Amino acid sequence: MDIVSGPASQLLAGRVHEILKNNLLVSDFKKFPDGEIYTRILDEFTGNKVTIIQSTVTDSDFVCLLQLIDACEDISSINVIIPYMGYARQDKRFKHGEPISARAIARSIKADMVFTVNIHDESILDHFDADAKNLDATPVIGRYIKNLKLKDPLIISPDDGAIGLAKSASKDLGIDFDFLDKTRHSGESVSMKPKTLAVKGRDVIILDDIISTGGTMAQTISLLKEQGAHEVYTACVHPVFSSNAVLKLFKAGVRGIIATDTIDKGVSVVSAAPVIADAIKS
Ligand code: R5P
Repeated sequence: MDIVSGPASQLLAGRVHEILKNNLLVSDFKKFPDGEIYTRILDEFTGNKVTIIQSTVTDSDFVCLLQLIDACEDISSINVIIPYMGYARQDKRFKHGEPISARAIARSIKADMVFTVNIHDESILDHFDADAKNLDATPVIGRYIKNLKLKDPLIISPDDGAIGLAKSASKDLGIDFDFLDKTRHSGESVSMKPKTLAVKGRDVIILDDIISTGGTMAQTISLLKEQGAHEVYTACVHPVFSSNAVLKLFKAGVRGIIATDTIDKGVSVVSAAPVIADAIKS
């Protein structure tokens, strides 16, 4: 099994290679003067099975994934791993005339098997023209949390969408769990329904699948601080961290930010590589 990495997942692909000791092929990624992307797999394939790992954080990352799949056309078995799939949050038609962008993206991926990691909604998997499976990276986040020295910890989901994640992490760690009601008004604006939580004097970890603008987390941190939480940490699988999200979290009083390397950021202190390596092995 050869591993081909796209530009957005080099660290994660390297870590998967370190675990599996597979052949990691080096590719070239450049831009033409007009902005189009040039992609070339430089190393030779060693077999007839390949796994391509590429998060689609930007539109260019998505084009690059399509190019890599095309470049592997002569290989008889192609697995595609999309650790973070962009556009997954547009998984339904919210307003008349909108596309279901997640479906459009999924339909364009041609492979034998597709793996996603904590995809926004598992219903998206049905749109792939391939066997598709969603992997769960929360256990690796849980292991990291376990090693923090926390005072009477509590896990909180900032909305009902992340309840499943927070519940499973709290069960694994054997610590308490609660959640908040969130309403999103636009891409940038969210409001919370204040709820009195038993956080006074306790360390709290707010767990969500994605941190994007940081609005959800910043509001949750402020609310918990007002209610007397001791230290507040944020944890997520996908650190999109657009614009000034990191600053918003620190301004709100976060003690630490925990995220995986499905998107390679400075806050990616946990690796999803063991989860992906297990999926490839099986
Ligand atoms: C929403 O459904 C997700 O679970 C996250 O809560 C959301 O994407 C976070 O976005 P932001 O950081 O922009 O508030």
